[in-house]
Amino acid sequence: MKKITIAIDGFSSTGKSTLAKQLAKHLGYVYVDTGAMYRAVTLFAMQNNCIGADFLDKEKLVKSLPSIKLSFKFNPELGFAEMYLNDVNVETAIRTLEVSSFVSAVAAISEVRSKLVEQQQEMGKEKGIVMDGRDIGTVVFPNAELKIFMTAGADTRAQRRFDELQAKGDSVTYEEVLKNVVDRDYVDTHRDDSPLVMAEDSIEVDNSYLDRKEQFDVVLELVNEVINSL
Ligand code: DC
Repeated sequence: MKKITIAIDGFSSTGKSTLAKQLAKHLGYVYVDTGAMYRAVTLFAMQNNCIGADFLDKEKLVKSLPSIKLSFKFNPELGFAEMYLNDVNVETAIRTLEVSSFVSAVAAISEVRSKLVEQQQEMGKEKGIVMDGRDIGTVVFPNAELKIFMTAGADTRAQRRFDELQAKGDSVTYEEVLKNVVDRDYVDTHRDDSPLVMAEDSIEVDNSYLDRKEQFDVVLELVNEVINSL
């Protein structure tokens, strides 16, 4: 069967990665979470004094970029690839609210974007890939055979993220999470370089009222339509 490239973009906490993982598993494709890559660079910036509550030393971070090695390693127990920063597994460390609060600023730096986009294009050159992020259908793979744009109301997304963080034992309030979701939406859609926009040829999926199975079924049908039309 012909392999395609599936680009999944959308706002934060819309369940892009859940859908992308399900699709990759079902189709036997590679899954790449590009948000994890921006989060890993942010963690590096935090660990190396390039970013803090009231500063962002962009120049220092840009100079350090050559020493940042990002890689994914498949974890068979989890069924997906985990994020490694300079060969250290950072899959858990990149998911904190602190990283979430800094990541949009880091993702707005053009030098960071071009380094990551280049690596993402390299990972996808064989097709058979599901990649999720904000600029996959517009910048990374403008020729992707299928582009999905996921949306859901900010309150629905904040509640989902809050439940996830609480389950992990993170002591955050719903209001903090909602503020983070709304702030990130704003920065992600207003930055100069590759702002989050829906590609003209992408298909919008609003999952406010869809459960995981319903959402998967809707998108799998789209995948099959595309593959059968090739
Ligand atoms: O998908 P996520 O919430 O883990 O992404 C974290 C941040 O990274 C998000 O606020 C925007 C940024 N991002 C981006 O700018 N481009 C991508 N392709 C993926 C994520």
